[in-house]
Amino acid sequence: MWNKKAAILLLFIAIIGAFFLFVAYRWWQWAGVSAVSRGEQVARDMGCFACHGQGGIHGIPNPRSEEESVPSWDGGTVMMYVENEKEIREWILDGVPKRLKQEHAEHHHGDKEDKPLISMPAYRGKISEKELDDLVAYFKAVSWYNTPEESKARKGRSVALKHGCFSCHGPEGRGNISNPGSLKGYIPPWDGPDFPELVKSEDELREWILDGSIGRFRKNPIANQFLENQQIKMPGYRDVLTQEELEHLMTYILSLRKKIK
Ligand code: HEC
Ligand code: HEC
Repeated sequence: MWNKKAAILLLFIAIIGAFFLFVAYRWWQWAGVSAVSRGEQVARDMGCFACHGQGGIHGIPNPRSEEESVPSWDGGTVMMYVENEKEIREWILDGVPKRLKQEHAEHHHGDKEDKPLISMPAYRGKISEKELDDLVAYFKAVSWYNTPEESKARKGRSVALKHGCFSCHGPEGRGNISNPGSLKGYIPPWDGPDFPELVKSEDELREWILDGSIGRFRKNPIANQFLENQQIKMPGYRDVLTQEELEHLMTYILSLRKKIK
């Protein structure tokens, strides 16, 4: 009788324990998700990509507009449209920043024939403060808003662009692209909370980029298991990058760590 009760109790505790472990694991995964990633989801949910294209980087044709297309967010053209972060918010909330309202009214409310076919909708009242923050973080990363001033870091950014690093690591290396079978379920961003554990020194950073993994992980059976099992693996760029490109890349990645926003 007692044995049966004890067994049921134990089973009960085990189920509760498993449940809490699961919740803790999901929380731990979730805590590593960046504002940029959340912002991409907001952009998807808000339909931004319908006009600005997938990821915001393939604006659709927009007859009668100056550029003949809806602006793509990337390509370094952001400075043509915004003078500061506040204006990014105004574009999204009001469909045009205060500074350009007058000019816009003249251009957009003349004869119907002169107006661009598509205009930017206003999202005020349709988006929460938190969603807007995340959306702005995503927009800034995609639009090269914070292009590093320091010349080596800026060159490193171009190297990352040229070699497709951002496709896997997200815009500015700040995304969380899904990676089945990996420890956290996504490719680690360069500015996330996981970085200090993955990259303990400049030597390890170099090792990651050149070999696609590090000795410290390969020697650890559990870490190695994840290295082997994850669906997407970090390519080793040893024979691809010049010494100079490597140095610039490292400068760029380390500069991201200093300036999180
Ligand atoms: C119906 C199509 C459409 C949708 C949907 C749309 N936009 Fe736009 N957006 C435009 C057009 C057209 C312009 C250019 C307006 C102009 O030049 O007056 C623009 C301009 C912008 C600009 C300024 C230009 C630039 O590239 O810096 C930003 C920022 C922007 N949109 C962000 C967003 C965000 C964020 C969303 C989703 C919340 C969104 N847009 C949804 C059509 C759209
Ligand atoms: C095909 C996808 C892919 C590409 C392209 C890629 N990486 Fe990675 N990268 C990964 C994955 C996956 C990991 C995680 C490896 C692990 O945990 O075993 C990773 C890990 C890293 C790390 C370890 C630390 C961290 O937090 O991300 C660095 C640094 C890194 N990559 C830099 C780069 C650079 C620089 C480039 C471009 C030259 C690049 N990666 C291109 C998939 C990629």
